[in-house]
Amino acid sequence: MSRSVFSNVLSAVERGAFPRTQKWAWRGVYNILSRFWRDDDWRFMNYGFVAGGAPFPLHAEDEPERAFIGLYHQAVEGLPLAGARVLEIGSGRGGGSRYIARYHAPASVTGLDYSPETVRLARRLNGDTTSLSFEIGDAERLPFADGSFDVIVNIESSHCYANVPAFASEAARVLAPGGWFTFADMRPKGKLAELDRQLSVPGLELAAERNLSAGVVAALDAAEARKRERIGRARLMRRFMTEFSGAQGSILYKGLAGGGVVYVARRYRKTA
Ligand SMILES: C[S@@+](CC[C@H](N)C(=O)[O-])C[C@H]1O[C@@H](n2cnc3c(N)ncnc32)[C@H](O)[C@@H]1O
Repeated sequence: MSRSVFSNVLSAVERGAFPRTQKWAWRGVYNILSRFWRDDDWRFMNYGFVAGGAPFPLHAEDEPERAFIGLYHQAVEGLPLAGARVLEIGSGRGGGSRYIARYHAPASVTGLDYSPETVRLARRLNGDTTSLSFEIGDAERLPFADGSFDVIVNIESSHCYANVPAFASEAARVLAPGGWFTFADMRPKGKLAELDRQLSVPGLELAAERNLSAGVVAALDAAEARKRERIGRARLMRRFMTEFSGAQGSILYKGLAGGGVVYVARRYRKTA
């Protein structure tokens, strides 16, 4: 795909011109990626986050994924996860749900994703982890009863949704009173106020917010060599993979580094 076509598509997406088409187009993209890129060591599809300060504890075998796990670590740090029923919405290849299940002693972790190919892959890549399961379903119509979860995690997925307020209302509905909804994703700077409004639904109270952009750019830089190696194997999809992965020089990388795109984290508490 040429750069100008890519820019036009991105700017239509930024304007939110075709939300439903965009939603189902993303599903096709994730289905294709999961069908043809089945590497056992690829469990994350986020841009990562590298924070300053002391590194959080990880087992040696998880060190190569530190930057990608970093987004999950910041999302759940300090939340009452021990014994909790955790739902991840937009769980992708399952690496984040796996991290929570293995490091934070929850009662259960359910990963939900609307891409059937991706859910099948997540089940295969994480079948060795107990208390972890994956289901097919739509963030905007959650297939769960009211109050079924204590913590909901949502990482770098909401930009694909057609109806973010419907997603936020569904998150509020399936959370138990006092439960936590922890969210991270990027938006064009001019769309941040809209995101605030979209997530301000009855039953959810904003508890904390943070700008993650600098740490995300640091993670993109740290992952550059590994990404280039994967892009090098993409043959026909090189341009797409360069943009999609946020490699240096991509439109997204420049947006995040220059401040035109902002990566935000928010935590909400379910009111009684
Ligand atoms: C960029 S990936 C992030 C995956 C994972 N959170 C991670 O950090 O590795 C976005 C994921 O959200 C999923 N997704 C997008 N729209 C969705 C929807 N409406 N309902 C459920 N999942 C959705 C996609 O299929 C994809 O797996």
